[in-house]
Amino acid sequence: MNMYDSDLLASILDKNGYEKADNEKSADIIIVNACSVREHAEKRAFGRIQNLLKYKRERNVKIGLAGCTAERIKNEVADILPEIDFILRPNQYNKAPYIIKNSKFDISEYDTATYNGLYNNRIHSGTNFIPVIRGCNNFCTYCIVPYTRGRERSRDSDDIINEINFQYNKGVIDITLLGQNVNSYKHNHLDFPDLVKKILQETSIPRIRFLTSHPKDLNDKLIDLIFSDKRVCKSLHLPVQSGSDRILTKMNRGYRISKYRLIINKLRSADNKFVLTTDLIVGFPGEKKEDYNMTLDFIKETRYDFAYMFKYSPREETPASKLNNQIPEDIKSERLNNLINIQNKISFKKNFEMIGNTYEVFFEGKSKRNINENCGRTDGNKVIIYKGSIKPVTNVIVKSIKGNTPYGVEI
Ligand code: 5AD
Ligand code: SF4
Repeated sequence: MNMYDSDLLASILDKNGYEKADNEKSADIIIVNACSVREHAEKRAFGRIQNLLKYKRERNVKIGLAGCTAERIKNEVADILPEIDFILRPNQYNKAPYIIKNSKFDISEYDTATYNGLYNNRIHSGTNFIPVIRGCNNFCTYCIVPYTRGRERSRDSDDIINEINFQYNKGVIDITLLGQNVNSYKHNHLDFPDLVKKILQETSIPRIRFLTSHPKDLNDKLIDLIFSDKRVCKSLHLPVQSGSDRILTKMNRGYRISKYRLIINKLRSADNKFVLTTDLIVGFPGEKKEDYNMTLDFIKETRYDFAYMFKYSPREETPASKLNNQIPEDIKSERLNNLINIQNKISFKKNFEMIGNTYEVFFEGKSKRNINENCGRTDGNKVIIYKGSIKPVTNVIVKSIKGNTPYGVEI
C-alpha cells in the first residue's frame, strides 16, 4: 500500500505541475514515505531523513515525511524530526500541493480519503496496483495499521472499473486489487467476489490478482470464483502469522489453524500448483517453544512458495505491546533465523519443482543481466528468465533454477 501511495502522491504532484527530479541531489522537494508497521523500518527511514537533511545546508530544499509514520508521529514531529518542512498523512495526499507549498504540519481533522477519481499515472512493468479498500477494522493486537490508516472505506466499484480501464489503455495487462483486507470490501451491496465478477465482466484486463486476503473472511464464493475464470490468478497471499491457535487467539486473528488448513486444502485440491505465500511473526508476547514449533510444523506441512518472516516488533498503542511477557530480543532473533532457514529450503524446493513445467508468462522486459534474455511473470506471480521472442504473452518451459530464479525457453 505504501508503494502504491508513493505513486499516487507522485501522480498528484505531476498533475499539479511538479516534475520528477533525476535524483535527490537535484530535487527541490524530497518526500520520504515511511512505513510504521515495524520499528526497524521506521528507524531506517528516520536515518535516511537525517542524511537527506544535509542538503538543506547546501541549498533551498524542502524535506517532508509521508505515510503511516507521518500519522503516527504527527504530534511529536518537533521532537523527533525538528528540521523537516512538512508531513503528509495517508489521508492528506490530495492536499499535497497546498501542504508542500505552505510547509504545513496539519494535524487537525481526521478525514478518510478514498481518492475516488484520482488515478495512478506511474505505470510499472509487471503487476500494477489498484486500491479497492483503504484502512482496516481488524485490530490484530500487534498491528498499528488500524491506528495509522483509520477505518475501512471501500471504493466505488465504477471508479475501480474506470481506473482499471485507464491502466489497460496505457498498456497494463496484470493488476493487483489492493487493500489491507480485500475480503472485507463492501460497497452498494457488492462484496469482494461481486466486485471481481464485475471487473471480469466490464473490463478486458487479462490478469487479476488481489492482496491481502484475510483467512477469516475468505469464503467459498471467492474460492469458486478464482477457479471459474482463467483471468483470476491461481495464487494467493494468505498471512497465517502463527501455527499455534493459542497465539492466533492472542493476536485476535479470528481463525484457527484447522479453518486455515481447510482453505488451503480446497485451493490445492482444485489446482495442485496453486501458489501460496504468507506472512509469519515469531516472538509474539508469550510465545512458548511449543507455539513456535507449531509454526515450524505448519510451514513444513503447508510448503509455502514464499514467506515474509518477521520478529514481533512492539508498536506503541497496540494491545500486544502492553503485554508483560515480551520475548527477549536474542530469542526472537534465534527463532527468526531458524524459521528463515527452513522456509528458504522449502521455497528453493518449490522453485525446483517448476523444472519441466510450462507456464504462460506475461512479458515484463529484458533481463537485467543478459539482454538476450527476457523476463516474464507467471500467473503464480513468479518471475522467469527465458530465451525467446518478445511478445506480451507467451508459453515458457522451465529448464533450470539458478540461485532462486527459474530459467526457461519459449515453446
Ligand atoms: N511486528 C512484526 N510484524 C508485524 N506485522 C504487522 N505488525 C507487526 C509487528 N508489530 C507483519 C504481519 C503483517 C505484515 C504486513 O506485517 O505479518 O501481515
Ligand atoms: Fe494489521 Fe490485522 Fe489489519 Fe492486516 S488485518 S492491517 S495485520 S490489523
